[in-house]
Amino acid sequence: MKRTIIIDALQRTDYGEKICIKGWVRSRRGNKNVSFIALNDGSTIKNIQIVVDLQKFSEDQLKPITTGSCICCEGTLVESMGKGQTSEIQAESLEVYGTADPDQYPLQKKGLSMEYLRTIAHLRPRTNTFGAVFRIRHNMAMAIHTYFHEHGYFYFHTPLITASDCEGAGQMFQVTTKNLYNLKKDEDGKIDYSDDFFGKQASLTVSGQLEGELGAMALGRIYTFGPTFRAENSNTPRHLAEFWMIEPEVAFMDKEELMDLEEDFIKFCVRWALDHCMDDLEFLNQFVDKGLIDRLKGVVNTAFVRLPYTEGIHILQEAIKNGKKFEFPCEWGDDLSSEHERYLVEEYFKKPVIMTDYPREIKAFYMKINDDRKTVQGTDVLFPQIGEIIGGSVREESYDKLMNEINLRQIPMKDMWWYLDTRRFGSAPHAGFGLGFERLMLFVTGMQNIRDVIPFPRTPKTAEF
Ligand code: 4AD
Ligand code: MG
Repeated sequence: MKRTIIIDALQRTDYGEKICIKGWVRSRRGNKNVSFIALNDGSTIKNIQIVVDLQKFSEDQLKPITTGSCICCEGTLVESMGKGQTSEIQAESLEVYGTADPDQYPLQKKGLSMEYLRTIAHLRPRTNTFGAVFRIRHNMAMAIHTYFHEHGYFYFHTPLITASDCEGAGQMFQVTTKNLYNLKKDEDGKIDYSDDFFGKQASLTVSGQLEGELGAMALGRIYTFGPTFRAENSNTPRHLAEFWMIEPEVAFMDKEELMDLEEDFIKFCVRWALDHCMDDLEFLNQFVDKGLIDRLKGVVNTAFVRLPYTEGIHILQEAIKNGKKFEFPCEWGDDLSSEHERYLVEEYFKKPVIMTDYPREIKAFYMKINDDRKTVQGTDVLFPQIGEIIGGSVREESYDKLMNEINLRQIPMKDMWWYLDTRRFGSAPHAGFGLGFERLMLFVTGMQNIRDVIPFPRTPKTAEF
């Protein structure tokens, strides 16, 4: 018999019809006369109930049907008497595909800690929480592609292996086929890469932006959506060594339009979650974060604050004067730390903030320099609980100014000639941003740790699974 997925089975009202479902047992309980199996197949957070009449099935048949086992059930669809359920199944045949020894299967109990579940990341998608998170993750990816497709952007694939450090932060993982036990070095002790696979030093990309800009200079509006790698040794709930980034890049876009895009795009994604993932959000709202749904609705209906960095520093210094204590200093020129960002977003404005016009020294080389020569047209979006969710900027389109910045920062130009060519041949004003997909996921799910919104997290000292 053809299988019905549980999300569809729960919608069906053709009671009395035969039905076949397959899935993993969440629980089995009952009495002498009847056994109830809660079955889940991942299509929805909801389980379907299988009612087993013990006059039709023997103890031996039911014994292997324990939490975690996988079964196929054929039976009759009936209207459920239990409250909160729509339809259920009267079992006529039960087949066990795979058992799960109750003495060994780790997901017996409810309420296992997030830390423990990380150690069994191969099984945690079978819990309600992670099932919800990963269904939402899929829906957010669909939201992103939908938004850009509908707004005339082209999905542009940038390389994962690269020889340039976009952010210039030196946090790259090297890619080599060299024998690390026997490295050839020149007289100065430098490694000779000429006989390496790419003939030069290569790494995993920290951002697709530079190649994205090449796309925008031809196709007008592009976006990337792919994995990004950063070897930053920060063991925080907001950093991964491998994360996914969405990077639109747009020709002829100025700072105001860029901020409009950032705000509109995030709101679209959050609204999409509210429109497409309500069952999972309700679960998370109940068991993970009581304020979640209100917070999501709040963001959709709130105008983001647009705040120049210099004004932000002013607000923070006023707060210090009035007795507010921060761990780190915040003089003009300092990079804001997350306590500063959170103060502005969560306490002062109580709204998402787009911070603009940062000091030149603390931002990347490619940002457009303002007339004051001191600030650049960065436009980061700061979110409650998350801190920086988007990093964006208008790009410096003047060849001379860009070259000057590259020289000041002593960025090796040998591998950047192709990037500079955008400024030599038909240079155009343009802008773009990068959204950390997992940071968006943190916001949309209410999960506390970035390791819990990606199936198999990569962080310092962990690459299991
Ligand atoms: O601010 P970042 O470093 O900006 C760029 O990489 C630009 N090239 C983007 C662009 O303009 N096209 O990173 C962008 C975003 C951050 O705001 C944050 O959301 C996320 O990427 N991010 C991380 N997410 C998880 N783990 C990490 N280690 C992250 N580093 C950055
Ligand atoms: Mg940034």
